[in-house]
Formats: sequence, C-alpha cells, structure tokens
Amino acid sequence: MSAIQRLGVLTGGGDAPGLNAVIRAVVKAGSNAGIEVVGLEDSFDGLIEPNRSRVLTPRDVTGILRLGGTILGTTNRGNPFAYPVATSDGVHDYSDRVVEMFHKMGLGALVVIGGDGTLAIAHQFGNRGLPVVGVPKTIDNDIVGTTNCFGFDTAVDFATNAIDRLHTTAEAHHRIMVVEVMGRDAGWIALQAGIAGAAHVILIPEIPFHMDNIVSFVKRREAGGKRFSIVVVAEGCHADASEKTRAIFHEERREIPRGSVGTLIGECIGLMTKREVRVTVLGHIQRGGSPSPFDRILSTRFGVAAVELIAEGGFGRMVTLAKGEMSSCPIEDAVGKLKTVDPNGELVRMARAIGVCLGDC
Ligand code: F6P
Repeated sequence: MSAIQRLGVLTGGGDAPGLNAVIRAVVKAGSNAGIEVVGLEDSFDGLIEPNRSRVLTPRDVTGILRLGGTILGTTNRGNPFAYPVATSDGVHDYSDRVVEMFHKMGLGALVVIGGDGTLAIAHQFGNRGLPVVGVPKTIDNDIVGTTNCFGFDTAVDFATNAIDRLHTTAEAHHRIMVVEVMGRDAGWIALQAGIAGAAHVILIPEIPFHMDNIVSFVKRREAGGKRFSIVVVAEGCHADASEKTRAIFHEERREIPRGSVGTLIGECIGLMTKREVRVTVLGHIQRGGSPSPFDRILSTRFGVAAVELIAEGGFGRMVTLAKGEMSSCPIEDAVGKLKTVDPNGELVRMARAIGVCLGDC
C-alpha cells in the first residue's frame, strides 16, 4: 500500500498516440496499489474549473489501450501561470487556484503527461510544493533525458508508409515528390522515416541546406537514369533561402508560395529543375490513430513507472527510457532544452554513407 491514497492525472500539449495507454496504466497500476485515480480534463483546466474531473476506475479505461487522442482531452493554451483571458493584458495567473483545487480534491500527487511546455508548468508547480511526477510525450521525440517518447514510433511508422506510397506514384510518373513531416525543432521524424522509406533527400532543421545542392543531386540522379526522387522535409526546416529562394521566384515572376516549408521547397525545386513536382504535407494525420505496439508498451511502462515513482516519493521527477530500461530524471533537467539530431551523429553519417542527400553538400 502506498502512503498516497489519491492521485490526479492530466494530459497537456499536443496529443500523441499512446496518451490513453499511459492513462490506462496509471489507473490500473494505481488501483492495484490501493491508489484512487482522478482524471483531470483538458490539461490544467481540470484544476482551474470546477467539475472538470472524474474518478477513473479500471473499468473506465477498458479498451482504450489502442485508441489515439486522450480520453481526458488536452490543450496547448492552458498555462495556469499565464492563462489566456479577454482582458487588457490577455492573461491571468490561476496558479493559486490550481494549488487550492489540488488540496481540496484530496490529491496526494499529480501525474503530468506532456511535452516540454507542460513539463515546464509541472516543474513550476513542483516549486510551489505540489508533488508532481512527469511523463514525457511528443511525437517529435525531442525531450531531453529520455531516448524515446511515446508517439514517435507511431508517427515514424505512418510517415514511412506514406513515403512508400509516394515512391510508387513518383516512379510511375517520373516526378519529384516532396513530403513534409512534423518536427518543429528537431528532425527525428524526417530522418528516421526518410531512412526507413528510402528517401533520396532528407532535410532537417539541424542541417542547413541549399537549394543548389538539392537540384544538382536530383539532376545527377537523372543523369544516372533515375527519373524520380523523394524529398523528405521536416516542417521546422528553414528554407535556405530566404534570399536565394526569393530570387528564384522573382526571376520566374512567380509569387512566393505561402504556407508550409514543404510547398516552398517543392515549388522551388520545380522552378529550378523544370520538372514536375508534387508536394504532400502529412500534418496532423501523423498525430492521430492507434499507437504502434512499441508505443503501447512504452506508454504502459511509463504509466506504471510513474505510479511507482509516486509510491517511492520521487516527486519532481520525470520517468524516462534510458538504455532500454525505465529510469527517471529531475523534470528540471528536461525542460527548456531540446534533444536535437546531432549533424555528425551515427544516423546522419549512415544516411550520407548510403548516398542520401542532406542538402548541405
Ligand atoms: O510538438 C509536436 C507537434 O506535433 C509539432 O511537430 C508540431 O509543429 C506541433 O506539435 C503542432 O501543434 P498544434 O497542435 O498546435 O498544431
């Protein structure tokens, strides 16, 4: 039996496949340890507004392991320390109310499942004396301290499938296919899905690229008889460009396309190669759907590890996967920084060794 009798659990930030699997594991492991679990709705809103919480029993989480999304709802606009409101300064500090509600609800601990932003809020509440435990989540896999976040494997699997499908139509039509994947600050999805999908060009935010390099690469492929190319672009890439890309559109008397970086790069390749290009932006489809078996297992391990951490009194810590094992680190160590792709790391060197163009040469 744990000294904690009641804990709260919430999901914050953008959703990721596996959130429900974590909730399920927290509820089941909590229940087996004699801890009642209260689900808080829409991130910290469940501790700001009344009647936005409910007790979750093992029966309530039956059948949710394979479901995407989160049964608790989520938001990336609900920071209680700077909550968006319609006043002159646009924000209000609800943190006192959160602390008060936490105690009023008789909670002994709080499991915060979220990305960098949500974990930073959890850390702030830890400093205010709330016994918090973090569970890292993001399909981008860019949280420091853990080798994997759940949701990433599912996103890579989906993006790889999409690249596979684009391959056949690209080859049939002798086209250049640009596919934009998520990855706001880090290129993990692009790099891994690009390698798994046998992309010819992979562009990630960590490696600045030049359009000329991409164009010469595509032309060299063509000279070698390969009449199609697949270009994978992480959404966080900065179109080299700015000057050079602009000049190209200017010369061709074309408007610079608005919207995604994939569209910009695709149109630019089209202008420079005079070849047919099609752009596919995968967007939020990568975040939806059922978690992969790997993510279901990782989420379940994280959920159980979070309850164990609570039972041990490991507050202020985040569960992690380190060297294949469950571990934990201070939440503080994981926030405010990003785990990005090492441009000289093994994965990048491997991609180069098999002839993938990273756009920098
Ligand atoms: O951080 C995860 C992520 O999926 C990013 O890759 C993407 O830029 C962002 O979330 C999109 O978030 P939103 O839900 O606000 O559109």
